[in-house]
Amino acid sequence: MDQLIIQGGKALNGEVSISGAKNAALPELCAALLSAEPVTLHNVPDLQDVATMLKLLKNMGVHIHQAPTGDVQLTATDALKPEAPYELVKTMRASVLALGPLLTRFGHARVSLPGGCAIGSRPVDQHIKGLQAMGADIKVEHGYMMASIKDGQRRLRGARITTDMVTVTGTENLMMAATLAQGETVLENAAQEPEIPDLAKMLVGMGAKIEGAGSSKIRILGVERLHGVEHTVVSDRIEAGTFLCAVACTGGEVFLKGANAQHLEAVIEKLVSAGVTIKEVAGGLWVSAPKDPHLHLKAQSFRTTEYPGFPTDMQAQFMVLNAVAKGHAKVTETIFENRFMHVNELVRLGAQIEIDGKVALIEGVSELSGAEVMATDLRASASLVMAGLVAKGQTTVQRIYHLDRGYEKMESKLRALGADIERVK
Ligand code: EPZ
Repeated sequence: MDQLIIQGGKALNGEVSISGAKNAALPELCAALLSAEPVTLHNVPDLQDVATMLKLLKNMGVHIHQAPTGDVQLTATDALKPEAPYELVKTMRASVLALGPLLTRFGHARVSLPGGCAIGSRPVDQHIKGLQAMGADIKVEHGYMMASIKDGQRRLRGARITTDMVTVTGTENLMMAATLAQGETVLENAAQEPEIPDLAKMLVGMGAKIEGAGSSKIRILGVERLHGVEHTVVSDRIEAGTFLCAVACTGGEVFLKGANAQHLEAVIEKLVSAGVTIKEVAGGLWVSAPKDPHLHLKAQSFRTTEYPGFPTDMQAQFMVLNAVAKGHAKVTETIFENRFMHVNELVRLGAQIEIDGKVALIEGVSELSGAEVMATDLRASASLVMAGLVAKGQTTVQRIYHLDRGYEKMESKLRALGADIERVK
């Protein structure tokens, strides 16, 4: 298994290009299942999760042409096998995003239930409940969701659906299913993350009729069929936020090319109150921070909530900043039940953090000291890399396959900014 070796203490300076968003690319690859015509996606990030999704689609019979430039062309002909097998789904829960498109296009689908995952049980009951409201018959047999359309209907039918909680992929699955349903669907309590309006923009480009994406109420009027489209994946706000926090910790001045400030308001607000300088400039974001965060930056309390609140996917990264800033902070994780696994590893690096249920109490320290640490999930691995950048001496981050799921060439981007980091087999 690969690991990263980091010599801490270097400031970050220069320019970094932010890649396409993982959490937009994954549903948008599945949206290609909704049409028999070719769909071209630009700015698709080169990530393990994207590779897994492409394997899943290829396994169904989707014709895929991938260019090194991050352009992917997909054609889901009528001869598709609407199945998502366990061996692929178990490695990536986002595979459940194939369920809505397959069912609404082909009238039946066999999709493995996603296993659990490190950060929580992450059930898909809301996806199932919503599809059932649209006339789907879904039985769980031998670990698979066997979905079909009730009473031999050819199409799902529009429905008014209120999910019990805000769910990002639940909203995406139901929005995609509704594009080919008979009549109007209204999604109440819909997720508002920027990846949802980006998906809606792609679907509308395919001929779908959608209003309100990005708000808590989305209206979709079903159509008979969707045509092909060319779409550019929105930039990754979590990768951008991760680099903002990294510069805040190490000090330096970096231009984040392609970063979109509108998608990061809650994170930028906290970074600015901590004492980081962030400017929105043409084509991206400019961030600068003084060396030695313990002298210059103030720790910030926050609680993760649904968009536009502070994103749970930025909780582990911001915790590193709190660990080395001055003062103390209280971090509350309200979305997932087990998303503090990075804490024990940060404590090994010398951080002072105590967990009390959903709350972590952090006391900033003047220095972290390098050590061997182990990644446990995607965003935890990013936080350990960041901690390694500021810790004194050498830090080795193991199991970085977690990092490769959601960050494109992280170590080469950091090295280009002056970090002393290398990947060893
Ligand atoms: C998406 O996961 C993201 N993944 C996650 O990013 C992100 O952390 C999460 O949204 C929250 O923002 C993708 O977009 C591929 P949810 P998702 O459904 O859709 C509960 C990363 O690091 N819930 O919004 O799976 C669930 O357990 C990943 O890039 C149900 O109970 O999250 C959680 O507590 C990690 N039943 C809460 O809702 C359901 O049917 C929010 O989950 C669905 C969700």
